[in-house]
Amino acid sequence: MSFVTQHERPEDHNPIINIHRQAFARDNEGRLVHRLRREQQLLLSMIVADNDQPIAHIAFSPVTLSGSERAKSLPTGVALGPVGVLPSYQGQGIGLNLIQAALDSETIAATPWQVLVGEPSLYGRFGFDVASKYGLKCEFKLPPEYFLLRVTPAAEVPLFEQGETLHYHSAFHSV
Ligand SMILES: CC(C)(COP(=O)(O)OP(=O)(O)OC[C@H]1O[C@@H](n2cnc3c(N)ncnc32)[C@H](O)[C@@H]1OP(=O)(O)O)[C@@H](O)C(=O)NCCC(=O)NCCS
Repeated sequence: MSFVTQHERPEDHNPIINIHRQAFARDNEGRLVHRLRREQQLLLSMIVADNDQPIAHIAFSPVTLSGSERAKSLPTGVALGPVGVLPSYQGQGIGLNLIQAALDSETIAATPWQVLVGEPSLYGRFGFDVASKYGLKCEFKLPPEYFLLRVTPAAEVPLFEQGETLHYHSAFHSV
């Protein structure tokens, strides 16, 4: 097997939908990626290919802040997700390598911070920590320990004011 990590290409669009359909056993995440792309909200979209066939995918999209006078002028981060690996390729280090490659990419390294909703045990190893420690709330109602934030190495640590809330692109509202 020869795995290659690269930016998505037009011919990867349908295989990417299939990766998420199989990884999540539903259509929502694939549809989300499709809609983000259509609305030009895919800041980064990377795949892992095995012999040129996409077998894993990760997306990042822009977020916005609300809740204070200054919220709109703050440097904004980005949201990670979805990330998925075809079931037959899971558990071989592919997902973790892809996440690290994406975080190290020029595009994401140029952003001040990244957020996601996910398992702390999985994402803690990349430096993600509970976003509430920085004072940031998520627009979605979820247990705070699953809303995570990572500060880009060498970037300024953000300190949010009470009430400042992170909003995902509206495409996430239908997931
Ligand atoms: C989560 C996912 C992207 C990880 O990719 P992968 O290639 O299977 O994972 P890797 O082989 O690189 O890494 C495995 C490690 O991640 C951990 N891990 C995998 N899925 C996990 C999960 N849902 N929660 C916590 N840890 C998880 C494993 O326990 C393992 O840890 P270890 O290194 O300490 O043994 C992949 O399993 C997947 O597509 N899952 C279904 C979709 C999904 O849940 N996406 C993420 C939503 S937050």
